[in-house]
Amino acid sequence: MTNPILDHLLSRRSVSAAMLAEPGPTAEQLTQILTAAARVPDHKKLAPWRFILFQGEARASFGQTLARIFEAKQADATDARIAFEGERFMRAPLVVAVISQVVENAAAPAWEQELSAGAVCMNLLHAATALGFGAQWITEWCAFDPEVAGALGLAGNERVAGFVYIGTATEKPDERDRPRLEDIVTAYRG
Ligand SMILES: Cc1cc2nc3c(=O)[nH]c(=O)nc-3n(C[C@H](O)[C@H](O)[C@H](O)COP(=O)(O)O)c2cc1C
Repeated sequence: MTNPILDHLLSRRSVSAAMLAEPGPTAEQLTQILTAAARVPDHKKLAPWRFILFQGEARASFGQTLARIFEAKQADATDARIAFEGERFMRAPLVVAVISQVVENAAAPAWEQELSAGAVCMNLLHAATALGFGAQWITEWCAFDPEVAGALGLAGNERVAGFVYIGTATEKPDERDRPRLEDIVTAYRG
């Protein structure tokens, strides 16, 4: 008997941001995607994550910020690279920044809260794919740059868990090799 959820889990692939075009999700689909993304295991119900959405003009506007920060850091940056930074967020109709937000909690250490943010990113991929979109979880330099964090308005306890690019796939990705279970599974023997 086939199981649609298992079929989805066994076949989902990321689609490279370079292969994501219009249209992106409608407002209603976006609400569904974000609602599904926020439905993750979360020890102590801290909701230690939030979303920043980039759509329409906001993508180009943020790109200008990225280009400025990049140029200031890289004296030898080429014009082509600076132009690419300006268009980095234009690669897909929608980019969702998943922001991990770690708070002090004796029962839920930072590691658990960060893992929960990773689960949010994964759920975003699943929900977007389930609605027929392509999606890719990316970090790249801008997820780790303090000035970009400042431009995003991140607080000291916040960092980017991922930029999830979502759009309509222009190509179906090929299957890729997966680890063999024999290589990653052992039975605990005491
Ligand atoms: C936390 C995290 C960060 C990633 N950052 C990048 C990145 O910056 N650039 C990139 O090309 N892929 C990045 N990837 C990998 C992509 O998501 C890639 O498309 C994915 O591993 C393909 O696997 P899939 O088809 O099984 O989903 C990242 C993955 C994770 C989990």
